[in-house]
Amino acid sequence: MNPEFKEMEQDLAKVMFDRNDIEEMLVRLGREISDAYRESVKERKLILIGVLKGSVVFMADLMRHINLPLEILFLQATSYGAGTVSCGRVQISMELDKALVGGADVILVEDILDSGRTLKKLTEYIADSGAHSVKICTMLDKPARRVADIQTDFKGYEVEDEFLVGYGLDYNEIYRNLPYIGVLKRSIYEA
Ligand code: IMP
Ligand code: MG
Repeated sequence: MNPEFKEMEQDLAKVMFDRNDIEEMLVRLGREISDAYRESVKERKLILIGVLKGSVVFMADLMRHINLPLEILFLQATSYGAGTVSCGRVQISMELDKALVGGADVILVEDILDSGRTLKKLTEYIADSGAHSVKICTMLDKPARRVADIQTDFKGYEVEDEFLVGYGLDYNEIYRNLPYIGVLKRSIYEA
């Protein structure tokens, strides 16, 4: 492990996915996405839309594993207050210029699919914008907590119901810059 991250590491119960696991995931997802859109990009734009802020690290690495011409955009949605459980109300806090996605194949890129409320809302929002298609790529999937009827099309890893941080995932906005994914100690958020 990188000694520079000692301070944040103390707050982890364990490392869940290390840099090698992440690289393996990026190669696999990059290949799956490239295969799925290889023909359609000859006719339509492919746009990756990252959901701020949790997807930025993943998105930056993932796009460099997709061997096709593509564009990127970002959206922001908020449902979490301070804490580890979503409040359930999803708000789009940064919108898109809808003209940019009209007729395009869109992949929504998100850090984690949890209750699914965020991606349910964003998928509908993109579909309403006149996109040709909307698919979902998430780094992690926590099926145990699903409330909304939604699945991920391109999935990194499936995880248990534990609170994870790092590689974009935060707790109260901290830990996003950890270069791997860990389980946050309960004592940190149950204090
Ligand atoms: P959903 O709408 O409940 O699916 O919420 C998804 C959002 O909740 C994600 O984009 C994350 O920001 C956040 N989230 C869910 N589970 C975790 C976790 O284990 N660690 C950090 N953030 C999480
Ligand atoms: Mg978050």
